[in-house]
Amino acid sequence: MAKYIINTEKKLSKINKEIYGHFSEHLGRCIYEGLYVGEDSDIPNVNGMRKDVIEALKEIKVPVLRWPGGCFADEYHWKDGIGPRENRKKIINTHWGGAVEDNSFGTHEFMELCRQLECEPYINGNLGSGTVQEMSEWVEYLTFNGVSPMAELRKQNGQEEAWKVKYFGVGNENWGCGGNMTPEFYGNMYRRYQTYCRNYPGNKLYKIACGPNVEDYNWTEGVMKVAANFMDALTLHYYTHPGGWLNKGPARDFDDNTWYITMKKTLKMDELINNHLEIMNKYDKEERVDLIIDEWGSWYDVEAGTNPGFLYQQNTMRDALIAGINLNIFNKHSNRVKMANLAQIVNVLQSVILTEGEKIILTPTYHVFNMYKDHQEAMLLESYIETKEIGLEEENLVPNLHESSSMDESGRVIFTINNLSITEDYKVEAELLGKKPIKVSASILNNEMTAYNTFDNPDVVNIKEFVDFKITEVGINFTIPKCSVMRFIIE
Ligand code: AHR
Repeated sequence: MAKYIINTEKKLSKINKEIYGHFSEHLGRCIYEGLYVGEDSDIPNVNGMRKDVIEALKEIKVPVLRWPGGCFADEYHWKDGIGPRENRKKIINTHWGGAVEDNSFGTHEFMELCRQLECEPYINGNLGSGTVQEMSEWVEYLTFNGVSPMAELRKQNGQEEAWKVKYFGVGNENWGCGGNMTPEFYGNMYRRYQTYCRNYPGNKLYKIACGPNVEDYNWTEGVMKVAANFMDALTLHYYTHPGGWLNKGPARDFDDNTWYITMKKTLKMDELINNHLEIMNKYDKEERVDLIIDEWGSWYDVEAGTNPGFLYQQNTMRDALIAGINLNIFNKHSNRVKMANLAQIVNVLQSVILTEGEKIILTPTYHVFNMYKDHQEAMLLESYIETKEIGLEEENLVPNLHESSSMDESGRVIFTINNLSITEDYKVEAELLGKKPIKVSASILNNEMTAYNTFDNPDVVNIKEFVDFKITEVGINFTIPKCSVMRFIIE
């Protein structure tokens, strides 16, 4: 019996809803086909946005959406994407699959998408190949209501009122696709570019600097040393690729050992957050600068027969666990991790939705976001679970169970718990300090490790109600089945 203690009297930090954020890039079929089909499409849409996709995304309460990249962001010239569509420049998306980008989805369309999703926009500016003026003018175009050339241009293009934009990224992966810079060079560039990203009346930007890739601690050190005082947050990118960057491995056809390697690599997120925060704190003693993980998720070989530059992959129970573990880790770090963005929202990497023509499927990852949504804006609770190490190789052992818990405004306790074993069920004895459970509801996502949803069979992996628990004097007893993600709500 694994002892699980939740201290309902110890609220640690608020779980920002933005931790449940998403990322959309002009990459493969994410924007075009996935989110945006255009007003003339036969696929039902509102102002060009797919109705079915919007409806599904609203269900999981997408709080924030990052756009236009990714690597695409540092090649994107925003003026190509405004004005009458027939006049917009056609370019080649050199980074992603050599596709023709007709710029029919631009600033106005993105802001319309966020309006429909009722989420915060997170716009990533181009520092790699764009000018200071260009970035400065984008902020002016988006957020200035007074008399100015950019405000005038926006009005000519049909948007009278300035939008509100809080989250603004100043470059992406500038250590790589965003210009191959050194940390000190980027730090100085960041200082310069952000100076001209103005806070116009009624709008305050939250400025986001490009942070490290995985364990590039030298980058964190260099950028923080130069630019800590000029940023609200630093980013971190960490993808789970089971076979490593060069040989990522298939999305569906994997063996038991690869399962545990994937779990081990996913759990590394915790170590990375701790280590980067430690460096950040050297240059930010008040711990003012937040950490944002604005790209995370699984990255496998693309599905056979698809464009290698489109990064289209299937999504199994393994991805459900990757999502469950990462979201638990972000919850636990919610004192400093203020946003996280799954890569990417539709049809690219660890998507929550896959589309094929007019059909859509909700992936196992989607269901995890749906189960975890009650953590949004709740208070993280102190909790501890007894675990044991499992796995097939000494160097790839992982804890069998993984959890996080919170209390929402109405006093409900929410806990999410994952079983990382593909062979064993475990008995759990959850004890709630300071609260007597009266009413309990629970749900579960579980199946074989390689199970996934298809367009012909979209409900192979789906959330089920779980009733097989016992309410005790102090908590709840239940058995968590192998390879599963569970959520309990206790009133
Ligand atoms: O998400 C795919 C790519 O991964 C992004 O464009 C880039 O920022 C990262 O390398």
